[in-house]
Amino acid sequence: MRDRFRRVLIVVEGVYSMDGDIADLPALIQVRRRHGALLMVDEAHSIGVIGATGGGVGEYFGVDRGDVDLWMGTLSKSLASCGGYLAGSGALVDYLRYTLPGFIYSAGLTPPNTAAALTALRVMRAEPDRLTRLRQRSAEFLRLAREAGVNTGTSAGTPVIPCIVGDSLRCVHLANTLFERGISVNPILYPAVEERLSRLRFFITGEHTSEQIERTVQLLADELDTLVPQQLVEVQ
Ligand SMILES: Cc1ncc(COP(=O)(O)O)c(C=O)c1O
Repeated sequence: MRDRFRRVLIVVEGVYSMDGDIADLPALIQVRRRHGALLMVDEAHSIGVIGATGGGVGEYFGVDRGDVDLWMGTLSKSLASCGGYLAGSGALVDYLRYTLPGFIYSAGLTPPNTAAALTALRVMRAEPDRLTRLRQRSAEFLRLAREAGVNTGTSAGTPVIPCIVGDSLRCVHLANTLFERGISVNPILYPAVEERLSRLRFFITGEHTSEQIERTVQLLADELDTLVPQQLVEVQ
């Protein structure tokens, strides 16, 4: 199969944005090696989230960063700004600088956005308890949700925690009902996920309190109870 293609690029997310599981990066690096492929990691949901100092999936697994051809991330999530980054070998970065349409016809990062992201990074390094709290709160939400019978899919203790409902209309209805009770959660529908895997996607932050988490899971469980059971997807 591999010999049918001149180049192969494997693209993965560090933490999966819809399911909250973590890519098995060491295994993917082996696949890259074995098949002479290129590997790209989107760290949108892993930078500032996993890894001892929030350094992302590379730090989480302690892999040689040079074993990934292209690191990509956004500044718009844990880094509280707007814009993004690409990192790779000097040759690759030069190539991208002169060929990516986005670099040819659009402006770069603004100074305020750059300063905001840099400050977020510095705060993260200076105040590691923020990451500890984020992990504790995420684990707390996941545990309570599972105990309440919520289908959290393959979420692996990251701050991305789905509640798989399996029906777009019900998802939107649930999201609206929770919003009226002061809880902001987005419904994720087809084509972001398969229709049968439509879900609410909860994002936990280190600023959420235990009380907020308990109340949210309780309200979610109460609302799910009002749905007809066979219309919920079975726990995977
Ligand atoms: C997996 C993933 N990659 C990249 C992005 C891009 O983020 P932005 O356009 O805010 O830089 C997002 C945003 O939702 C994302 O979820």
